[in-house]
Amino acid sequence: MKKLILTAALATSASALAGGTGAPVSRPAAAPTSAPVSLQFDAARYTAGRTTVDGKTYNYRAYKVVYVQRPVDTTYQSMNIYIPEAYFQGQKVGRYDARTAPIFLPNQVGGYMPGEPGDLTKPGMGGGTGPSAMQVALSRGYVVASPGARGRTNKAADGTFYGKAPAAIVDLKAAVAYLHYNDTRMPGRADRIISNGTSAGGALSALLGASGDNADYAPYLKALGAAPASSAIFAVSAYCPITDLDHADAAYEWEFGSVSDYQKLEITRDTSYQIQRKTVSGTLTATEKTVSAALKPLFTPYLNSLGLQQDGQALTLDAQGNGTFKTYLASLIRQSAQKALDGGTDLSNISYLSVSSGKVGAVDFDAYIKSTGRMKTPPAFDGLSYENGENQLFGTATVDNRHFTAFGMEHSKVAGSLADPHTVKMMNPLNYIAASGTRTAPHWRIRAGTADKDTSHAVSAILATRLQNRGYDVNYWLPWNVPHSGDYDLPELFDWIDGVVKS
Ligand code: DHB
Repeated sequence: MKKLILTAALATSASALAGGTGAPVSRPAAAPTSAPVSLQFDAARYTAGRTTVDGKTYNYRAYKVVYVQRPVDTTYQSMNIYIPEAYFQGQKVGRYDARTAPIFLPNQVGGYMPGEPGDLTKPGMGGGTGPSAMQVALSRGYVVASPGARGRTNKAADGTFYGKAPAAIVDLKAAVAYLHYNDTRMPGRADRIISNGTSAGGALSALLGASGDNADYAPYLKALGAAPASSAIFAVSAYCPITDLDHADAAYEWEFGSVSDYQKLEITRDTSYQIQRKTVSGTLTATEKTVSAALKPLFTPYLNSLGLQQDGQALTLDAQGNGTFKTYLASLIRQSAQKALDGGTDLSNISYLSVSSGKVGAVDFDAYIKSTGRMKTPPAFDGLSYENGENQLFGTATVDNRHFTAFGMEHSKVAGSLADPHTVKMMNPLNYIAASGTRTAPHWRIRAGTADKDTSHAVSAILATRLQNRGYDVNYWLPWNVPHSGDYDLPELFDWIDGVVKS
């Protein structure tokens, strides 16, 4: 049944859009000339709105704030905040009130491109067929705070780039610091911030949760004039995170190396808001097959170096890429298939598993890969001709693209340069989980669909297992036949959040 969604934003005043500070909202200049932005949340500067979710209307107050004192670009370094009107009337929404409401923090980043703050009046990732994550959050009594973040294509009038790594994660951290700094001035609890994102946004969500308050980011936050407050969060929701970029090429060939035909996706962002994805088909060239064969063996030593465990058993791989880690992934796919079967999905034409008396038997991982196919050409991330978005992510103010792996650098076809190790480190959550001086989020929900080919399933499995092994609460699942996407299971997502908030 189609859900009825009606969203109405009432008139927006110019003063509300300016963040209540009177600061000019401008495109980046070479040097900031305006007075520092005030980081004090002003509850009186709002626009009233209402939204309808499942036939019920919710009134809210909408705020737009700039979250750093010295923004480079307020289009991205700003945050839309939506607070249930009921919280200003001493009332409850669902199970929460002004004092207890968690803060839902969805970012809108895709493709490591710049992401504007999320807009509750616009459709969500589902393409307008259901309520967006922001609407569902508000309807369930959450305060919603959606930060924008700079990205790899941001270019100033003088030709310099200002959204290269680690800009996006620094921005999200600054937004979190703003919420902590204003905790007493705002309804909602800054010690209950739940981050949400998909793909590159999922990676940033995970990085935000892994690296809370780590000193590596402090100089960047200071330079922007971020609020002097914690950047730690309570929980992470990450859909198909495109993360561990410095090992993702080898992981990709470990998983998809046996497949030569690909269906590649080209990602662009249109002039308004939405990410556009275009599919291009092809077969790996002889050179690309050689690159794949050279990358694949790099994965086994990397995986074994992590010392991962499941149920007391070491997850390892042998020189051929077989072993308990692979068996573990196959078992996750089997569990996913079992749940689909239990829910009435017909699995009779799935070639890589068998069903007997309502039970799904062992999944043949190699056959699963052959049947789903590959999407990217090798290297999937650190492109040898700088052809991938990730090359652009690791550029500098004056250099658009760089390599970020030793392999990419060594085999570069463009006589490229290598990103500095510190920048690469700051983009990988695995470097920060339980690190000293770091407040890693205690609760994690990680999803990667069985039909996702944008990165290896090893990437999310490594992240989830590392977190579990370090004692964090992890809910990890590979939803059956779900492609690269997010926000497709919102009732379950918010049930999970309600559960961890209570625990
Ligand atoms: C995204 C997808 C990719 O395949 C990738 O390499 C980076 C980001 C995305 O959808 O955000």
